[in-house]
Amino acid sequence: MSVVALVPAAGRGERLGAAVPKALVEVRGEPLLIHAVRGLLDAGRVRHVVVAAPANLVDATAKLLADAGLAADVVAGGADRTASVGLALRHALGVIPDTSVVLVHDAARAFTPPSVIRAVVDAVEAGARAVIPVLPMADTVKQVDADGVVVATPDRSALRIVQTPQGFDTATLVAAHALADSATDDAGLVERLGVPVATVPGHAYAMKITTPFDLVVAEAIVLQTERSLVEQSYDRPGAARQAAEEGS
Ligand code: C5P
Repeated sequence: MSVVALVPAAGRGERLGAAVPKALVEVRGEPLLIHAVRGLLDAGRVRHVVVAAPANLVDATAKLLADAGLAADVVAGGADRTASVGLALRHALGVIPDTSVVLVHDAARAFTPPSVIRAVVDAVEAGARAVIPVLPMADTVKQVDADGVVVATPDRSALRIVQTPQGFDTATLVAAHALADSATDDAGLVERLGVPVATVPGHAYAMKITTPFDLVVAEAIVLQTERSLVEQSYDRPGAARQAAEEGS
């Protein structure tokens, strides 16, 4: 089975307040995009990665990936996230026509553990047409009206925080993108097809890096991962790779 991963990274990322697109903001000296693509390839299940970059940064992004030793194609993104995924999908299917599983990953979730990536691929290969990693809600959530007045308190136990990569069998994702609709995630498009979306456990490290505060947390995640790799290579040679895979 051929698994390809699409990384829509063509947004401007204003919320981080940086002068560069969010995917190019650095954590521990490397752009989020590099961390994200390396994570996908290191999971050991992805055959090909296609990144959607801002049109004026396609060549620079391709050079960045090549300089980091990462094999990935870069295409120009579209007007919104859905369009960028659609363009990357079309490119991927041109390069690897026998693609059976497509992952759609957010560069902002650059530190998703390999174990989560593999769990998503496994679930699609086991027959799910769409799979998303999720976490339970720690906070109570309120629905408010236009004036900020609370109108409802949804049952927290039935709510989930959604992460990426989201995984799809190829035909399902192609059908979802043929809807000519837009959504904040690809599973949202698949839901409109009436296709069930399965879930697997997500991970705190797969957080979306959106604000300067998140960047501080991301630095801590990388530091923690590096430290446990070093410690375990002294304690138990061979355990370091396992630690990296588990995101510990
Ligand atoms: O802005 P937001 O955080 O919702 O963007 C989600 C993801 O979609 C980001 O990784 C962003 O780079 C990507 N995106 C894109 N093409 C666009 C707009 C956003 O690939 N035109």
